[in-house]
Amino acid sequence: MSMNDKIAHLRELKEKARAGGGADRVARQKEGGRLTARERIDLFFDSGTFRELDMFATHRCADFGMWDKKILGDGVVTGFGKVNGRIVYCFAQDFTVFGGSLGEVFAEKICKVMDLALKNGAPVIGLNDSGGARIQEGVSSLGGYAEIFYRNTLSSGVIPQISYILGPCAGGAVYSPALTDFIVMCRKTSYMFITGPDVIETVTGEKVTKSELGGAMSHNTRSGVAHFAAENEAEGLDLIKELLGYIPNNNAEDAPYVPTDDPIDRVDESLGDLIPDDPNKPYDMHEVIGRIVDEGNFLEVQPHFAKNIIVGFARFGGRSVGIVANQPAQMAGCLDIDASWKGARFVRFCDAFNIPLVVLVDVPGFLPGLTQEYGGIIRHGAKLLYAFCEATVPKITIITRKAYGGAYDVMCSKHIRADINYAWPTAEIAVMGADGATNILYRKELKEADDAVAKKAELVAEYNETFASPYLAANRGYIDDVIEPKDTRARVIEALELTQLKRDSRPARKHGNIPL
Ligand code: HXC
Repeated sequence: MSMNDKIAHLRELKEKARAGGGADRVARQKEGGRLTARERIDLFFDSGTFRELDMFATHRCADFGMWDKKILGDGVVTGFGKVNGRIVYCFAQDFTVFGGSLGEVFAEKICKVMDLALKNGAPVIGLNDSGGARIQEGVSSLGGYAEIFYRNTLSSGVIPQISYILGPCAGGAVYSPALTDFIVMCRKTSYMFITGPDVIETVTGEKVTKSELGGAMSHNTRSGVAHFAAENEAEGLDLIKELLGYIPNNNAEDAPYVPTDDPIDRVDESLGDLIPDDPNKPYDMHEVIGRIVDEGNFLEVQPHFAKNIIVGFARFGGRSVGIVANQPAQMAGCLDIDASWKGARFVRFCDAFNIPLVVLVDVPGFLPGLTQEYGGIIRHGAKLLYAFCEATVPKITIITRKAYGGAYDVMCSKHIRADINYAWPTAEIAVMGADGATNILYRKELKEADDAVAKKAELVAEYNETFASPYLAANRGYIDDVIEPKDTRARVIEALELTQLKRDSRPARKHGNIPL
């Protein structure tokens, strides 16, 4: 064979690999409104930068007539490329080949890019579209999955791992994403479940559609498994690129600095009008966030789940931060089980990847009730407390209004080592609100009063005057300064500058024991 023939043969092989499961299966994939693995990769990476590995790999299975059914690449496209100029590793499961199911070789290919990414300190993006363990390969498939799970765990907190669910992901196909930092799901075409509707009906008798069981919105609103829901495949890929812009390549680096035209000393007078005079009236904490961050850009994480807490990424003066904020417009901003878990997980991600935390507080307390107590609000609430205590990144806290009871402590108070704590003059920092406090402290007086309503109003006013302010906390140094709302952006940026070289550590240990 001449050199030219050999090159022609090589090109032919690569063309074959690129064809995946063949024209019919590709057509079926498209009919279902889904792109192919390679089309997804083309959309995701900077043009011409993706380098594919292991195109010639095939499975080694001989059972169930598989020996004659070998497809180059074995159903997963793996490699690396550049996203906005930064190296990113990726694997994209190809549903047109054995339903994207995972066998021994398929797993080896994924493990190879995971190992490279970990060694070289770059993010891994998984584009998941898979029927789970390849049934024909039996225990080898299970072993392959476990090799991936192990690497997901090794990489956790060292390199960012992001999963995009783009088809029906069943069985083992959902556990690797669950071990990663963020899960994006595509509306209408993606599903995640341990077992499908048929098995559920057989075992429990429950009838449920695929979409109700494991569709994008089920996991974004109910289970909390997913962090983002994309309208279509391309939107989700863009979202991942945006997300990567806020986070570093690995835990030894800082997030990219993104210069901004938004002045660092920008004053926003309108912030002073945001808090209603009536302390029981809600307002939207998104308004505060939007007015203080660079150019109003905020990438909210889990926007559909536990809306009583807001978490997400933004920048101040070009520097990436994680924002954790109570949302008085939902359940008065109370902390409940879901909000505590959502907040804790986000705080731990930011701490692992050197992203400072900016915490906006307006919280009347933990949500009371039997459902919460039986559901374990004590242990779930403790997760958020633990996460804030454990975090050694710069922590900047601003109390806009309420900071009552245990929730005051939890929401990154000075006592759990926030670096800078500010309060607006509207802040109310106390053990509990005036109503509850007066009921407990003056039970006897209120019972004996001729006009209990008038007496109550008088006591409430007295309590509010004395305790519902930032000044008792400021007097003790728990609040470093009471600031005017309009200056919030400038004061946060200054605090971030102040803490940029912060050094802090925790006692040496194997690992802590967060109340999981
Ligand atoms: C081998 C599979 C497969 C699998 C699908 N295929 N799943 N092959 N192993 N797990 C093949 C089909 O035979 C078919 O091949 C092609 O992929 C497309 O599948 P369809 O069923 O035609 O597609 P669709 O109707 O879209 O349904 C997709 C699906 C369904 C919902 C994913 O295929 C399905 O339920 N698959 C099984 C899911 C599952 O139970 N997986 C195992 C979980 S156990 P042809 O040749 O006809 O095109 C597991 C254990 C790991 O994962 C645990 C680790 C902790």
